Amino acid sequence: MASRCSPTLRQAQRQPAQAQQAAAHPGCRSSARAASAARQPAARAPRCRQSAAAAAAAGSSSSSALDGAAISVSGVDLTFKGRGINKQVLNTASLAVPRGSFHMLLGANGCGKSTLLRVLAGLFRPDAGAVHVDAPCGFVFQNPDHQVVMPTVAADVAFGLGRYRLSPEAVHAAVAHSLAQVGLSEFSERPTSSLSGGQKQRVAIAGALAECPRVLLLDELTTFLDYEDQENVLQCVRRIVDGSRRQQAADAPAQQAAAALAAAAAAAAARDAGPAAAAVAAPAAPVTALWVTHRLEELEYADSVSYMEGGRIAFSGSPAEMRQYMRRLGAVV
Ligand SMILES: Nc1ncnc2c1ncn2[C@@H]1O[C@H](COP(=O)(O)OP(=O)(O)OP(=O)(O)O)[C@@H](O)[C@H]1O
Ligand SMILES: [Mg+2]
Repeated sequence: MASRCSPTLRQAQRQPAQAQQAAAHPGCRSSARAASAARQPAARAPRCRQSAAAAAAAGSSSSSALDGAAISVSGVDLTFKGRGINKQVLNTASLAVPRGSFHMLLGANGCGKSTLLRVLAGLFRPDAGAVHVDAPCGFVFQNPDHQVVMPTVAADVAFGLGRYRLSPEAVHAAVAHSLAQVGLSEFSERPTSSLSGGQKQRVAIAGALAECPRVLLLDELTTFLDYEDQENVLQCVRRIVDGSRRQQAADAPAQQAAAALAAAAAAAAARDAGPAAAAVAAPAAPVTALWVTHRLEELEYADSVSYMEGGRIAFSGSPAEMRQYMRRLGAVV
């Protein structure tokens, strides 16, 4: 892969992060939110779907996917170059996240966590290595005040669906289902300006869920939240992952018989209304969450965890193994 930085990465050094993200993601269509995000340095990116084109742009290929891994990254390098900058941020980063798991990514400031997430979302193209992410994927950023931009909760959750040709009834059903998943069913008509930070984060997650993601990329969602909101958001993500696994198990006996029908319905829906409708029509699939954090106390919610250092994954294991590893590094956990 080319070692010089792409125009996208050069642009990244000049422009607010989200402006180049919206422009760079081949799976994102232009939207009012993207336009708004381009003006706000820390605004939320449009809820992107990892299309085949995006996966290809990120150096992905389904053939590189490990069996059972929703996310696999192998030997990824990325160097930011241009205007006096020549900084290698990802250095042979490798990671595998099992499908249907809640995986946490820990690491010190500046070690490359957000950059890796952006590579997974197809926002940055790595210089080398292979990336696979199950599609579609949704991405939620850390600042709740920049995540939610529509006047009411329902309008905000529905925002990303505007690019599909869905009937008002289908949009209403998707919004209601997504709000139920984050425990905010009663908040549908609430002005978003009246929400707490944690509620806003859950609305942002609901917005991602409305597009039926198989992977959720979640970058430090609890940074600006008080303790109660942190717990609420963590529990919410835990429930989404567990709920998708239960749903898939419950659907398993019916799935074989329904598979052909669902595939036909999905193909028809994709033709008529876009991939969100196709995902809705498809059989239940597990949701995988990749959660970036600094907080060791959040490990109790994780199935597995990785530690990033100097642009590479230095350790992966269970939360208990990670605590041992951190103790060896001198942390008090
Ligand atoms: N567009 C860019 N151009 C140049 N350097 C960048 C760019 N984006 C990030 N970096 C640098 O890459 C390094 C990794 O940044 P990144 O945001 O991935 O770290 P992080 O692990 O998410 O840190 P934090 O915990 O503070 O969020 C940092 O040194 C950062 O300054
Ligand atoms: Mg970061």
